[in-house]
Amino acid sequence: MKNIISKKVQEMQPSGIRAFFDLVLGMKEVISLGVGEPDFVTPWQIREAGISSLEEGFTSYTSNKGLYKLRLTISNYLKNRYGLEYCPDEEILITVGVSEGLDLTLRAIVEPGDKIIVPQPSYVSYGPVAELAGAEVTYIDTQKTNFKLTPGLLEKHIDKKTKAIILNYPNNPTGVSYNKKELSQIHKVLLKHNVLCISDEVYGDLTYDFSHIPFPTFPKAKENTMYLNGFSKAYAMTGWRVGYACGPKEIIAAMTKIHQYTIMCVSITSQMAACEALHSGKRSLEEMKREYRRRREFVVDRFGEIGLECRKPQGAFYAFVCIKNSGLKALEFARKLLKEENVAVVPGTAFGSQFDDYIRVSYASSYDNLKEALARIEKFVKKIKR
Ligand SMILES: Cc1ncc(COP(=O)(O)O)c(C=O)c1O
Repeated sequence: MKNIISKKVQEMQPSGIRAFFDLVLGMKEVISLGVGEPDFVTPWQIREAGISSLEEGFTSYTSNKGLYKLRLTISNYLKNRYGLEYCPDEEILITVGVSEGLDLTLRAIVEPGDKIIVPQPSYVSYGPVAELAGAEVTYIDTQKTNFKLTPGLLEKHIDKKTKAIILNYPNNPTGVSYNKKELSQIHKVLLKHNVLCISDEVYGDLTYDFSHIPFPTFPKAKENTMYLNGFSKAYAMTGWRVGYACGPKEIIAAMTKIHQYTIMCVSITSQMAACEALHSGKRSLEEMKREYRRRREFVVDRFGEIGLECRKPQGAFYAFVCIKNSGLKALEFARKLLKEENVAVVPGTAFGSQFDDYIRVSYASSYDNLKEALARIEKFVKKIKR
């Protein structure tokens, strides 16, 4: 057969995480600190809501926009929690996780040649999804500014073709988040240049040191922001595939057009479970968060003892660890660690090719696993430094 794969897809690099974890598959005794998903199962009352909905016979499509009940619940939740007002009819769309929300936003707004800014290190899908939508991606390296986007850096990278930025906080892979002043400064630059903020706040509920501030809460930011969130991380619901996009009604309407032809709607079972998560999931969320915080302290302390620099992540469940002291580069470090000590971590290069002095360690793994994994990493580092 002649080559029928589109050029765009041919040129797309496979995800650095997937590529590495194909190596892990089938290996026994491996402790994986690689995956970006909670080690908890979905809290029982949420699962039960899904089960009950099936028992009661809710097996149909829903409205393309998503169950009205869920959109209303989200609208009330955002209003009560943050004072944000989104109309459930026109400004909220239920999506297949944040992943679909991101894809739809980009496909709805990008004209060929438009530029999308992605601060790096970044979640693996941003660049490829923006390119698939026809955008040119402008990456901003935040290594010299403590992995934070600054107004100065942002100004420097915006030009006439810049249409939007994909901002993510707390960040995957660094765990970095932003305070009010920092966000407000970023917002002012975006507003000045009329650049849309696509704000991926999927880890917003997993912030440990200070309260999370959603981007659209700033004055005039709501009209200039696509707020993306979901249930995967906070409620341990990765497999349910449900998220939501809140934003200006023109963009939500355009996204709904694409969504209705490509997806139709998110599974009704998942939507019903998501409703329950917002009604009664807070306690379970707080319990999981407490445990993540405990693990965070442990992981940061242990890397300090091992002699690898690890800044305290402010949110999410990842530590971005500098391995420069080891004398190895990221891919080699990760490969050798896997081969010699059966511990899987993600090479920093998965989040931007320049991050070859870093590895990402997920602490969404049990405390006992973390203890054992860190002991093995210590042994490994001692060995290679000898
Ligand atoms: C920053 C970030 N955004 C989005 C996603 C995907 O989330 P969802 O399961 O809601 O599609 C992930 C998953 O790891 C993530 O880390």
